[in-house]
Amino acid sequence: MRILLFGGWGQLGSDLVAAAADRHSLARPRRAEVSVTDRDGVARAVEAYGPDAVIDAAAFHRVEECEADVEEALAVNAVGAWNVAVAARGAGARAVYVSTDYVFDGERVDGYAEDDQPRPLSAYGMSKVAGEHATRVGCPDALVVRASGLFGHAGSSGKGGNFVETMLTKSAHGEAISVVDDQTFSPTCSRDMAERILLLLERRVPPGIYHCANEGSCSWFRFAQTIFELAGVEADLAPRAAGVQVVRRPRCSVLLDTKATGLGLSPNRSWEEGLRWYLSTRADGGAGAGGPTIETGPDGWRSDRDEGSERPGDLRTRQEARAERAGGRA
Ligand SMILES: NC(=O)c1ccc[n+]([C@@H]2O[C@H](COP(=O)([O-])OP(=O)(O)OC[C@H]3O[C@@H](n4cnc5c(N)ncnc54)[C@H](OP(=O)(O)O)[C@@H]3O)[C@@H](O)[C@H]2O)c1
Repeated sequence: MRILLFGGWGQLGSDLVAAAADRHSLARPRRAEVSVTDRDGVARAVEAYGPDAVIDAAAFHRVEECEADVEEALAVNAVGAWNVAVAARGAGARAVYVSTDYVFDGERVDGYAEDDQPRPLSAYGMSKVAGEHATRVGCPDALVVRASGLFGHAGSSGKGGNFVETMLTKSAHGEAISVVDDQTFSPTCSRDMAERILLLLERRVPPGIYHCANEGSCSWFRFAQTIFELAGVEADLAPRAAGVQVVRRPRCSVLLDTKATGLGLSPNRSWEEGLRWYLSTRADGGAGAGGPTIETGPDGWRSDRDEGSERPGDLRTRQEARAERAGGRA
């Protein structure tokens, strides 16, 4: 399959690249090369690459900033989604939009299934609901895949890292750490999410909304406790209540995966297992445990195709890229 990936240099995007490495061709323009807000640019990129699937993992998701700049939130998360979906449909490709647990209000203590009614509490959540609709109207064959609390080796570029690394860094500095104990979610290893997105595409599942989270749920405090337990770190950790927040967050944003499992796909591993894998592969960024480290080359995302690679559109491994340069091609 040929996959064009927007937001491909972020946390989930990097895991999609690693997951796709040995089985699909994938290209990932940087934001500076193609912004999803640029309708013509997106259309040109899709036409040039000729993908079977176009994944939109690009997002403006710093929730406080979304509240202050709702125009930008809508531009990236909703208009961008429309641009990607329409371009995908025009090329006969399937669009995939990555969405969020923040589309829900968090009042259901037992978690949310795919068909539950979204009712966002924030500008960010609202913009992602708009993006979901935009995607499904713009490309009726599209998949919307919702995630919750991602942790991946690349760290979220939009949020400046991930919760696991934040906890480990704070404890390494000897800081007293307090973490909210009254908000429940489904921590999700972004590599598992990447594998699930590819599987949904490979199995050609029906269009619609899918939830993708590691199995189980916990509070942020319990998540922090488990990080320290599994990492073998003594931390000065205490629970606290969320209290009054600048941006309201759902009290419960547990995502129940009923759709994919209903189609016969196995449930994801538990969040504890995902976290164990993450911690055990921190040193090599998951490369040794899940595939080669990838780069697209310094000359842009289309270079491998334009240079007439034997595997058009493939990303090259570091070794391959180095060998090419040594041979004078790069
Ligand atoms: N992180 C979480 O806990 C979480 C939870 C639920 C859902 N999600 C969703 O999961 C998806 C991936 O999240 P992530 O953690 O991988 O985020 P991330 O690391 O911040 O990656 C987002 C990527 O989007 C790119 N981008 C931003 N604006 C763009 C634009 N206008 N055009 C093209 N690219 C643009 C960013 O590029 P730059 O690096 O240049 O800014 C970055 O590479 C998002 O849709 C997010 O809403 C995330």
